[in-house]
Amino acid sequence: MARSKVIIEKPESEFPELIVTVPDGWPHVTLVPWYDVHHGHALHASPMFKRHRLWFLNEPYVLGWNGGDFCENVVEGSPGIYSQTDIPNVQFKNSVELLTPMASKLLFAIPGNHEARTMRRSGFDIAEALAHRVGIPYFPDYCFCTIKWRGMKFRIVAHHGTGAAASPGGQRNAARKDMPWVGADMYWTGHLHQPIVDVVYRADYDQSTDRMVSRSSVVIISPSYLRYFGGYGAANRLGPGSLGITVAELQSTGNIEVNVHAKGTRL
Ligand SMILES: [Fe+2]
Repeated sequence: MARSKVIIEKPESEFPELIVTVPDGWPHVTLVPWYDVHHGHALHASPMFKRHRLWFLNEPYVLGWNGGDFCENVVEGSPGIYSQTDIPNVQFKNSVELLTPMASKLLFAIPGNHEARTMRRSGFDIAEALAHRVGIPYFPDYCFCTIKWRGMKFRIVAHHGTGAAASPGGQRNAARKDMPWVGADMYWTGHLHQPIVDVVYRADYDQSTDRMVSRSSVVIISPSYLRYFGGYGAANRLGPGSLGITVAELQSTGNIEVNVHAKGTRL
């Protein structure tokens, strides 16, 4: 499998950074990060997740990461204790089983607020334990990931996402939160369970010539695998988001193509 030639370097650094070199022979690089799967919740969209996971396992040119909230992990004192199908210990074991076959295509893992519940109450980082068990690099908040391919550098800022923004404007602001202090090609979060893909024009300096170049960014909030009605989102009128995954294709032109789907029956 071509994947075996992908080189992942995690330098000693004060920054949570990762450098990934993809073979130039790849026709494209498709990024498939897993955000807010919420495995173990009664409303987890299991058939869809299984279908997408199988597609990920079979695709040759995909790379992803675990963006957090992979399992529901409700601990004592957190909301939703009765909406779990399994206790966190079982969720953890199931997560290891689900993620291990995917590990060769996963670049890194970051925690979500659901994994952080265990950390907050016990000082034990369950997200780190999961990443180590599966065998992928782990970062406790951000990951600044550079993907080097065909002489280009695609800079990614990944975080689970924060806040509870419910309006379209508030959600966009949440997604752009890191733009003022770190220049990147992709700002990728989840957490809000809403599918947002925004292109933001940016320019940059070519360090070798001092000439200006255009370098637009894409700002993404991934949706989730958590169904809406009967759950926390509906109880708090957060608005139903679409289900599934957002996929971005890095192209040999330097373009980044993100497809969004408005699913539905048009009568
Ligand atoms: Fe979250």
